[in-house]
Amino acid sequence: MSKKLVAVVMGSKSDWDVMKSCDEMLGRFGVSHECRVLSAHRTPDALQEWVKKCEAQGTEVFIAAAGGAAHLAGVVAAYTVLPVLGVPMESASLKGMDSLLSMVQMPGGIPVGTLAIGKPGATNAALLAIAILGSTRPEYKKKLQDYRAQQAEKILAETL
Ligand code: RP5
Repeated sequence: MSKKLVAVVMGSKSDWDVMKSCDEMLGRFGVSHECRVLSAHRTPDALQEWVKKCEAQGTEVFIAAAGGAAHLAGVVAAYTVLPVLGVPMESASLKGMDSLLSMVQMPGGIPVGTLAIGKPGATNAALLAIAILGSTRPEYKKKLQDYRAQQAEKILAETL
């Protein structure tokens, strides 16, 4: 099985529309990764197995997206000491505030690095994962610096 540096999991296929941004950003930077749908409450055994499998095959960062009582990232973090980044999904009833608070309020001891609700969080989870990889891989660090420079150029070129 080929090594996937980043492993992305989401609680439902309904999260994919948002999490595509994460997948695309990882692809744009050429980071090997996989995306799976697995649920902390609907497929707990399969989730545990998958986390262990990813770890064994060399994954270095996990990204977990979920909505509502969003415990997925916390459960992933329970099974690994690798960095876990959480993306709260926007929910119908509480607009993602439920997801955000469930994810960000991990009790001290088992961390989840929680990003913004929805698409910005999905994009930034990928960029943060790349930054983590970049601390030991100069090629990713350089690509991130170039990406920042492109953003600056775009702003400076704006005319009103
Ligand atoms: C969570 O419940 C998922 O992550 C999703 O954001 C939310 C709703 O899931 P579905 O009812 O669309 O499957 O577990």
